[in-house]
Amino acid sequence: MIWTPSSWRERPAKHIPEDYPDSTALANVEKRLQDFPPLVFAGEVRNLKSRLADVAAGEAFLLQGGDCAESFKEFNADNIRDTLRVLLQMAVVLTYAASKPVVKVGRLAGQFGKPRSSAIETIDGVTLPSYRGDNINGMAFDEKSRIPDPERLIQSYSQSASTLNLVRAFSQGGYADLANVHSWMLGFVDRSPLGTQYRDMADKISDALDFMKACGVTSQSVPQMAQVEVYTSHEALLLGYEEALTRVDSTSGDWYDTSAHMLWIGHRTRQVDHAHVEFCKGIKNPIGMKCGPGLDPDELLRIIETLNPDDEAGRITLIARFGADGVEAGLVPLARAIKQSGRTVIWSCDPMHGNTLKTSNGFKTRPVDRILSEVGGFIDVLSAEGCVPGGVHFEMTGQDVTECIGGAQAISEADLSSRYHTHCDPRLNGEQALELAFLIADKLIGLKEANQMPSRATN
Ligand code: PEP
Ligand code: CO
Repeated sequence: MIWTPSSWRERPAKHIPEDYPDSTALANVEKRLQDFPPLVFAGEVRNLKSRLADVAAGEAFLLQGGDCAESFKEFNADNIRDTLRVLLQMAVVLTYAASKPVVKVGRLAGQFGKPRSSAIETIDGVTLPSYRGDNINGMAFDEKSRIPDPERLIQSYSQSASTLNLVRAFSQGGYADLANVHSWMLGFVDRSPLGTQYRDMADKISDALDFMKACGVTSQSVPQMAQVEVYTSHEALLLGYEEALTRVDSTSGDWYDTSAHMLWIGHRTRQVDHAHVEFCKGIKNPIGMKCGPGLDPDELLRIIETLNPDDEAGRITLIARFGADGVEAGLVPLARAIKQSGRTVIWSCDPMHGNTLKTSNGFKTRPVDRILSEVGGFIDVLSAEGCVPGGVHFEMTGQDVTECIGGAQAISEADLSSRYHTHCDPRLNGEQALELAFLIADKLIGLKEANQMPSRATN
């Protein structure tokens, strides 16, 4: 079968709604979207791929994060700025710890559609179709809201365009100046109940910046210090929308999905002969793929062969999400299979989706200590297998929400009801996310020191 942006339509597809009441209205919206301007440009996508090739080679680190699901209701400038600010703060800590550039990829400007474990939801004896993300239906628990509405695709395009515009302004216009980001981080260290634990690393970063300043390296003399590259990503779930934004790049003649720089395939839609793999096969963007319980190593190799036959570096990011208890058993066979095949991939860790639990008071939450434990296990397993732990993938927000339990603020189950705002999964709040960055940094520094330590044999 010859690939086209619509060849996925010939394949079985999971988690793409089939219950739009008016399929002509949906087709018309997709047609309108085909005429809308691209959100990102092929040249930027190629830049990201080359940064990711560095990650695959162990010369850079990937930090991907943002909302589980963006929403129309929580769409405002403060939210976008605060998420970006946390991402930048985490990146500074990780850059210092890893002594490598950190490639920053937001789960934003397009992260709306959600694959749901159940197609229906029952509350107080009333059963309705599940909420599937603001680009499909509404979250309110009433019959009308849960009907898929194609106009939501237009609104999510428009929100993605405005979000991306603001992200570009913040990243290039001075807001992201390294000195600013560092002073926000010092504010966090002063406020955090565990501040003293982070003080040492924060002081070292301050010393490094002071040294650079003394050498004349400041954002005045080196304007790049006031700018950052931030890329966008989302799950390529609603393929009709992705198809409409897939365009031929006039420079290379290749197809790019211009809805985001990077797209990923979810844990529930990665069947090798199904629609989502078929669609991603033909676009040139970097592709992520969630790897979770049940993924067979041979199946993984077949998917990689399909998506990346030429073994292009930076094309494939494998995002492991096994849960703190499952990371060793789940990851070892996959890591070995990849290593043996000689395939080039990035290994990244999503410590969120395997660590979700329901509290007795009915909230979906994630314990911060399990999140940290999964990242630790991921780094240990891959290092032991001689592979590179290349990055992390978080669901987080810059807002002071109470969705994940634990952390320095010691958010308890009883606290969850206070500021629980997520439209889907529980996110780390700004402080928890930064705290995790410090803890991961410690681990990366340990790894660096172990690698630099001469072995007994060479002593
Ligand atoms: C997600 O990243 O929000 C998600 C649904 O993840 P997964 O496909 O790994 O379950
Ligand atoms: Co999620």
